[in-house]
Amino acid sequence: MRAMRRNKKAEIKECDDDFKERLVVITGATSGIGYCTARKYALHRANLLLINRNEEKSISVCEEIRQDFDVECEYKIADFTRISDVQKLGYELLDSDIRIDVLIHNAGVYSTKKVFTEDNFELCFQVDYLGSFILNYILKDKLKAQDNTRIIFVNSEGHRFAILGLRLDELEWEKHHYSGLRSYGKAKTAQLLSMISFDDYFKDSGVSINAMHPGSVKTNMGQNNGPIYRFFKRLFIDRAAKSPEISAKALYYLGVSKEINGVSGKFFRLTSEEKPAPPALDREVAKELWSLSIKLGGLE
Ligand SMILES: NC(=O)c1ccc[n+]([C@@H]2O[C@H](COP(=O)([O-])OP(=O)(O)OC[C@H]3O[C@@H](n4cnc5c(N)ncnc54)[C@H](OP(=O)(O)O)[C@@H]3O)[C@@H](O)[C@H]2O)c1
Repeated sequence: MRAMRRNKKAEIKECDDDFKERLVVITGATSGIGYCTARKYALHRANLLLINRNEEKSISVCEEIRQDFDVECEYKIADFTRISDVQKLGYELLDSDIRIDVLIHNAGVYSTKKVFTEDNFELCFQVDYLGSFILNYILKDKLKAQDNTRIIFVNSEGHRFAILGLRLDELEWEKHHYSGLRSYGKAKTAQLLSMISFDDYFKDSGVSINAMHPGSVKTNMGQNNGPIYRFFKRLFIDRAAKSPEISAKALYYLGVSKEINGVSGKFFRLTSEEKPAPPALDREVAKELWSLSIKLGGLE
């Protein structure tokens, strides 16, 4: 808790190095943190591949970035509420000859209501966790072979809401009362647990994988919820929130700075390293989750 309070006030470390002609892949780059991060990398001359669910928004963001920064900006469509979309995307990238320098798993959602996807998973678990797991899992050998890739999960201090841990036997929320905070916390905890296993997998390969809390920033997060939540968000959350530019700065630092060379398996609040909550450090659950996610993601 003391570290959390200290890190809340800590200055963001910045990196001004060039990233010319490197390829950065970002999921959920049509608004908020993903959008600002795409622009930040483009400013430093990186080429971009954006993974979004909305074609119209993707065309508009890519055109804007190409015009403003004269870099390559392409997009692919995948709705993370559909396992088949994420698998298709993953195998397309696997079979292509692109070299990914930074892979930022950013797409996410927060839902006050218990919603199930077409694949029959709770929405937040599928979008905020399972999608990133499937993509990472399909690409893991390619990334390992190409060396020096940095993978970053845009995670959250909200993982701490899952006080009782992940409860792998209760992903359907049948026995426990659903709450948006807890479901979000569980999904982000699952992502941190998967980081443990991916980090083991990438050991000594030159590929690093880290997670970060992007700050409390004003974005479209939560706009999918009802009018009461949106009113509350506008009145209380957004007033205290900062600009997602700070998240973009931190994601650029974590993706590019030499100071992060060799750093892997860590959780950062923006650019300050922090210890995650105990349920997100449980190696036994991480192992179980790895096997279960392979099964749930149709990756056997
Ligand atoms: N804002 C904060 O204070 C905060 C704090 C901690 C962590 N985070 C994390 O930061 C990440 C980015 O969120 P944000 O705050 O920037 O919110 P945002 O503005 O709502 O951006 C979310 C992005 O994810 C995309 N997305 C949502 N559902 C998707 C789906 N089913 N398939 C594919 N893409 C989907 C959105 O696409 P559309 O434009 O099509 O909706 C959008 O591009 C999330 O992982 C969130 O948990 C945010």
